[in-house]
Amino acid sequence: MKKQDYPKEFVTHPSVFAVENEYQIFVPVRSELLMWIEIGKESFYDHSNGVLRSDTPLHKMCVPMELLDTAKEYTVCYRKVIKRKAYFTETKDIVKVTYKFNPIEKGKAINIYHIADSHSRVKAAVDAALANEKKIDLLILNGDVAEDSSTIERIIGIYEISGNITKGQIPCVYSRGNHDMRGICSDRLAEFAPNRYGRTYYTFRLGDLWGMVLDCGEDKNDDQEEYGNTICCHAFRLEETRFIKETIAKGEFLDNTIKYRMVVCHIPFTRINYNGEGKFNIESELYSEWCRIIGEGVKPDLYLCGHVHVCTVVMPGDPMDNRGQTCPVIVGTRPCTFDEKEGFTGTALILDNDKITVKFTDNVGNEEEIKIK
Ligand SMILES: [Fe+2]
Repeated sequence: MKKQDYPKEFVTHPSVFAVENEYQIFVPVRSELLMWIEIGKESFYDHSNGVLRSDTPLHKMCVPMELLDTAKEYTVCYRKVIKRKAYFTETKDIVKVTYKFNPIEKGKAINIYHIADSHSRVKAAVDAALANEKKIDLLILNGDVAEDSSTIERIIGIYEISGNITKGQIPCVYSRGNHDMRGICSDRLAEFAPNRYGRTYYTFRLGDLWGMVLDCGEDKNDDQEEYGNTICCHAFRLEETRFIKETIAKGEFLDNTIKYRMVVCHIPFTRINYNGEGKFNIESELYSEWCRIIGEGVKPDLYLCGHVHVCTVVMPGDPMDNRGQTCPVIVGTRPCTFDEKEGFTGTALILDNDKITVKFTDNVGNEEEIKIK
């Protein structure tokens, strides 16, 4: 990693996440700050109903996507808090840091890098993305990027990866994994991770790409002993089924300027996971319905997944197509071990001229290429 080139109050550079029609900009910090983003003459604060937040290790500011795409730069503004009080809170002067931003333009090729299952291994994941020869236009973090959500520091490790790779200058997409649901801070992800009104499933549009982020929740049934009665993922998936149907009914993906449609989901729900004597083989009926309604309604070009710690492309009709997928499923992440010193493989996806190329690339520059469209 390069020498630090961000303010000492920051843990790393900002990360700019695409969620529906806005960017959610996250800045992890080391001290108590008040923070906002300026784009042109407009300001977008990290606030709670008009009160600026300072007692937080992670600031979040939401800005309209169109505004930042046009301005192509944003300024992170902050004040250090000396003492917060009911009256006459003491703060230091405003500090401003401007970041260039490269939106994904319509009509141009898109180079994506996909990381999942880094399980809190920051360096290996960053190295894999940076060893990839193509300049990245979009970073996708597809779940289990942190080992769990047992502490806020663990969650902030996600932003160390995205901040170090993107330097705050390109968009990211976030999808939650099952490990993110574990630990006492997991019910605070609505505050500490990108989402739409608290929901971890949503759509995004970046250049010629339209995407739908889905969230399978946990990988075993809700009554699994290890969850200790804390999980209600079946009900969560039923709510999500309604969202999928509403998205299909709205038909935003039918815009004729969209060239690529992608479903991003940590768990490849299109296949049965036979490990663990069947305890991972859940929700066959519901997941088959998702495959059917997404296949008929959205007609995606690909699914992008992680979770099973292998790099493979499953085509419709392959032995691992267990629920009727209608397009390739890319399972693209391979942490060899949980040791930081060991290798890590992610996926480079190139969308160019209606062609999709997949490359599995690792942290020392090895790659394996597959064309899927
Ligand atoms: Fe997982």
